[in-house]
Amino acid sequence: MEERQKKGSLVFAVNGERFELPCIDPSTTLLQFLRSGTCFKSPKLGCGEGGCGACVVLVSKYDSKLKKVEDFSVSSCLTLLCSLNGCSITTSEGLGNTRDGFHSIHERFAGFHASQCGFCTPGMCMSFFSALVNAEKGNKPDPPPGFSKLTSSEAEKAIAGNLCRCTGYRPIADACKTFAADIDIEDLGFNSFWKKGDSKELKVSKLPPYYPTKNFCTYPEFLKSESATNLDSSKYPWYSPVSIEELRSLLNSYVTENGASFKLVVGNTGTGYYKETQRYDHYVDLRYIPELSIIKSDQTGIEVGATVTISKLISFLKDENKVDLGSYGKLVSQKLAYHIEKIATPFVRNSASVGGNLVMAQKNGFPSDIATLFLGLCASVSLMTSHGLEKLTWEELLWRPPLESRTVLLSVSVPFKKDLNSKFLFETYRAAPRPHGNALAYVNAAFQADVSLCQNDVLINNIKLAFGAYGTKHATRAKKVEEYLTGKILNVHVLYEALKLVKLEVVPEDGTLHPEYRSSLVVCYVFEFLYPFTDVHSAISGGLLAGINDISVEKVSSSSKDGCISQERKQTLLSSAKQVVESSTEYCPVGKPMKKVGAAMQAAGEAVYVDDIPSPPNCLHGAFIYSTKPLAAVKGIQLESNQLTEGVADIITYKDIPSGGANVGAMLLFGPEPLFADDLARCAGERIAVVVADSQRSADVAARTALLEYDTANIDSPILTVEEAVEKSSFIQIPPFLYPKQVGNFSEGMAEADHKILSAEIRLGSEYYFYMETQAALAIPDEDNCMVVYTSSQCPENAHQVIASCLGVPQHNIRVITRRVGGGFGGKAVRAMPVSTACALAAYKLRRPVRIYVNRNADMIMTGGRHPMKVTYSVGFKSSGKITALHLDILINAGISEDISPILPSNVIKALKKYDWGALSFDVKVCKTNLTSKSAMRAPGEVQGSYIAEAIMEHVSSLLSMEVDCVRNKNVHTIESLNFFYDNIVTEVGEYTLPSIMEKLAASSSFSQRSKMVEQFNQKNTWKKRGISRVPIVYEAMQRPTPGKVSILQDGSIVVEVGGIEIGQGLWTKVKQMTAYALGLIESSWAEDLVEKVRVVQADTLSVVQGGFTAGSTTSESSCEAVRLCCNVLVERLTPLKKQLQEQNGSVDWPTLIRQAQMQSVNLAANSYYVPESGSMSYLNFGAAVSEVEIDILTGQTTILQSDLIYDCGQSLNPAVDMGQIEGAFVQGIGFFMHEEYLTNEDGLMVSNSTWAYKIPTIDTIPQNFNVHVVNSGHHEKRILSSKASGEPPLLLAASVHCATRAAVKAAREQLKLWGKLDGSVSEFYLEVPAVLPVVKTQCGLNYVEKFLESLLAQKSN
Ligand SMILES: Cc1cc2nc3c(=O)[nH]c(=O)nc-3n(C[C@H](O)[C@H](O)[C@H](O)COP(=O)(O)OP(=O)(O)OC[C@H]3O[C@@H](n4cnc5c(N)ncnc54)[C@H](O)[C@@H]3O)c2cc1C
Ligand code: FES
Ligand code: FES
Repeated sequence: MEERQKKGSLVFAVNGERFELPCIDPSTTLLQFLRSGTCFKSPKLGCGEGGCGACVVLVSKYDSKLKKVEDFSVSSCLTLLCSLNGCSITTSEGLGNTRDGFHSIHERFAGFHASQCGFCTPGMCMSFFSALVNAEKGNKPDPPPGFSKLTSSEAEKAIAGNLCRCTGYRPIADACKTFAADIDIEDLGFNSFWKKGDSKELKVSKLPPYYPTKNFCTYPEFLKSESATNLDSSKYPWYSPVSIEELRSLLNSYVTENGASFKLVVGNTGTGYYKETQRYDHYVDLRYIPELSIIKSDQTGIEVGATVTISKLISFLKDENKVDLGSYGKLVSQKLAYHIEKIATPFVRNSASVGGNLVMAQKNGFPSDIATLFLGLCASVSLMTSHGLEKLTWEELLWRPPLESRTVLLSVSVPFKKDLNSKFLFETYRAAPRPHGNALAYVNAAFQADVSLCQNDVLINNIKLAFGAYGTKHATRAKKVEEYLTGKILNVHVLYEALKLVKLEVVPEDGTLHPEYRSSLVVCYVFEFLYPFTDVHSAISGGLLAGINDISVEKVSSSSKDGCISQERKQTLLSSAKQVVESSTEYCPVGKPMKKVGAAMQAAGEAVYVDDIPSPPNCLHGAFIYSTKPLAAVKGIQLESNQLTEGVADIITYKDIPSGGANVGAMLLFGPEPLFADDLARCAGERIAVVVADSQRSADVAARTALLEYDTANIDSPILTVEEAVEKSSFIQIPPFLYPKQVGNFSEGMAEADHKILSAEIRLGSEYYFYMETQAALAIPDEDNCMVVYTSSQCPENAHQVIASCLGVPQHNIRVITRRVGGGFGGKAVRAMPVSTACALAAYKLRRPVRIYVNRNADMIMTGGRHPMKVTYSVGFKSSGKITALHLDILINAGISEDISPILPSNVIKALKKYDWGALSFDVKVCKTNLTSKSAMRAPGEVQGSYIAEAIMEHVSSLLSMEVDCVRNKNVHTIESLNFFYDNIVTEVGEYTLPSIMEKLAASSSFSQRSKMVEQFNQKNTWKKRGISRVPIVYEAMQRPTPGKVSILQDGSIVVEVGGIEIGQGLWTKVKQMTAYALGLIESSWAEDLVEKVRVVQADTLSVVQGGFTAGSTTSESSCEAVRLCCNVLVERLTPLKKQLQEQNGSVDWPTLIRQAQMQSVNLAANSYYVPESGSMSYLNFGAAVSEVEIDILTGQTTILQSDLIYDCGQSLNPAVDMGQIEGAFVQGIGFFMHEEYLTNEDGLMVSNSTWAYKIPTIDTIPQNFNVHVVNSGHHEKRILSSKASGEPPLLLAASVHCATRAAVKAAREQLKLWGKLDGSVSEFYLEVPAVLPVVKTQCGLNYVEKFLESLLAQKSN
């Protein structure tokens, strides 16, 4: 064996380039290597846990026997480099790039406006490319020229596991679907390739060409000869045994002796869940042992080797050409494939093994799906233990103590049943936050039963009910229920009793999230499985059973009269979308839907983010140690000694702040925030120190394993809630000029009211930014105590000030540079400052460059997010629905520091004033608590204010038993009331577009017809209910002063600098268009060509001062205006010369003009500082949305069937960019209202701090029909070229989805009432935000099923 092991070096290729590594730490991941050891930076680190897809690359393996290349996507953050010996890796820049030309995927992504911040884009492209490559290998008929063999549904599914926080997915789906052979090109969305009126053929021809036959080489020829060698075990502690015998002797050799640590490894995806902070002495790769990679099936069952990947298992189960399995075998195969496809994501399943999954379930209690499926199927397993080979049932193994490290799982076998006298049923269940995968199940289940017909009834001969992931250590069988059911004739009574038993037997352990919901799911699954066979349906079930031996439950369900429960839940993703833009040519090229600057480069992964800047020599890496206690003295920090923490250089705390410097980490308009806790930590998540080490990984492990010694003696209890803050009068001051004004007279309004609601309550939680690029900074010391800091920041100017004051140096010693930001959403404004400051402090102290790339888990804990709030309101209203007065007491939880919190009251009230409340009074308090500081998050306060208004509308309508839409309509402003409520802004009649938008939307979305259809649907369906809702918004935007600088270079190219930062919102693109337009005033025919001459460059705080912050949706327009002012100066300087040249030569072009200007010493650079006029600083934005949803009462899952949005963008500066902002904001809002659970423990520490627990929307949770209309409301002299903001306001429209969900829940409650089983009122209930599955189901009634059965039983007994 030793001979064989000692063969070769680690050799592989990246984008065709050969790499040979003489030695390497075997725990190095592919991502770590690519990012630090190559120039290929397109794979990004978004999470490090397999949950986001930013790091996806294509791996290609060569099978020298079959002479075939296998290509598959993987998450490079989990793949160990040593496992890739002989493999070829393709990254997005390998597909195409700026120098060699882009791939058509890149170009189509760019042309379909599918890349905003661009951080997710390379990973998206690679997930899609992998699907494309594999589709071409299939034996489907050749597609028409220009298309691939992928279907549009496969194209969508290819990217279903990748997260994007910016775009809302619709344009990404469209870009991918352009490759699908079955697509109707007319169904594809707004893009920069096509013009109105283009024929289908012309459209196809205008797409960047894709040549499926022109093979892209994923596996270079030179690697083929090296593909089969094994690593030399004397150089690499990595072993790849090729037989069980070899494995056995290896496990009995020095590899496991003398306390050496070793790890069996297959795909290594388990580390995505169980973060490893340990390094092993040896790794044993099991993938080369043939017995472990077998997969076969016959009429007796299926056998799966432990190293078979989940993807291979799925393809095997789906393969219809394999041997005849019999009908039960077929049923099981189909059901398993359908279920297993929802595990993780394609790029995880491609390397995740079945055995690894089962071992994780057995050893670590992982909430596995496969473990449950195999338990339900009575699978057996083969093991190799230190005593020899062993075969036992999977159930027996589950209940054994955790497997010993030398025990190897060899294979698992699923038996098929065959008994001619019985009929077999098999079904699996899974409810999860995302229907299509990339989310662990709340509960999963697998049931099988053999039944026979007894007269016309169904007799259960045998039944197995397995449940998992519900909050116990292992998947379990409900044996008491099984026993109870065995031998029984199924009828409603028996089922009812069985459900009672199952609830008692399958119980989540203490501490499980949503335990009641999980219990109710367990009941629902059993109900779904058995109900179709009860006496209620006996005719149907009997009929079916008589003819078919092995049947699926859905066949019975769907053939039942009322189609009562359909197991086959709808899985289509985005089925259609329509975008309408009304652009204007008045200021061309401003107003053109130009594609985003650098979008193709972003897709190719060449766009440089902070962490892509190569590390300077000697660079160190930092990671934060944060407090886990809310209020405690910190007595000491101890690092755990660990191989992985070797290389720690220092721990930087507040004590390292130089004399003359201050302990300040953030500052904006209000109070400063300390960089580090001094001796007292004031919130869980507060920065205590930065560990600095020679690699980011060592720093992260050291920080993660550091032990903090706390002392809470003589320290007050922390304030965690707003109630506690009120009790202790712990408030943040609101400067009087920021406190909003009351409107009208509340008491008089109340006196006019016919009805009153007094002291009703609403609570809203927090939301995390989930920008794809986490906080990042790189600080490089320079001469004379200077420092250059690269930071991913929305406000470099403020970061600059803070760094200077922390280091105690003049501000001219500091230079802060920000090129682009991988998503900000407000989280990289104040919250980014401590990261760059800590980085600068460490670099200052250690006199070496230091970089920090905060890992996702720490970022989620430390960064804070949206402000939670508690609102108590009293409202008076007429019987007609007209509201006469509203009073609110609002308690805002600001966390520990001021941050931007003092502006929250005004933001909440501004958005709430979208309706005419008659009179509006309020008391708003900003509470200071021992939580991480809450900060600006996209539409901070406005989203809550707008939602509170809707919740009140809902409440009023429910009391009046009126349609909520009527109540809304009654209270929408007239122009008079609008100007009364927003008395700081004068809105002219023509500008107030909301009423016409609402009308237009009602017509375009067929609101009233669909409302009726929803009603009909609800009458007909017991288990699914629908709701529809229309919601308006009014959003006050405010412009801020912004600087600009335009310089024309000798060749006529133009460099532009602005205060605003490109955070994905398309600011550079608009600025570019504006520069071309404004310089084009010299000669209008030049304008379009000038666009290509403009480059907007990174923000540099020493080049352009007073940059301000990029926030509040208006920075693009104010940056544009600043640039226009610069251009005006240049135009003034150049126009006389141009006239002169024209007179001399008859004509003149731009390069000649600039050459002459240079010669005549014309100043070709201009600076400006745009300061908005006080009278036109603020303006109102209007929009409305209609959303229709369908809820599944059994699981609580909400599907957004359709959303229609109309948004007034003024005269859009770039309708493509604005469309992207609108769709992206709306989907981010769906996250807030429907998905994102920001959970904290009793100390206020965020605990949903991973991609496993925090679920942002994915492509399968966006509206299935998504229609957006960008209205051009025409010329307005006070707006910047008549434009309006689009970044934040549309997020508020997502409340329509929540309101529609509430309507659907109401329909479910109506149903309960019909059965006489409703506890409480049909319409008076509060649907929490976010309305995740447990929330929806709870409001429908956790025991809905039991109530249904009770009503049936009652009917029977009558
Ligand atoms: C983002 C993500 C989402 C996921 N979602 C789901 C989900 O929804 N449902 C679900 O069921 N699973 C889910 N998983 C889990 C996934 O299925 C497992 O991570 C994977 O199957 C493990 O296989 P692996 O080959 O990568 O194992 P590895 O990571 O290589 O190994 C895992 C553990 O098993 C040990 N091991 C591996 N093979 C053997 C063997 N043959 N004998 C003994 N020990 C062995 C290893 O030593 C290690 O301790 C998800 C994983 C990720 C990363
Ligand atoms: S970084 Fe690898 S999946 Fe997120
Ligand atoms: S473009 Fe997808 S995360 Fe920004």
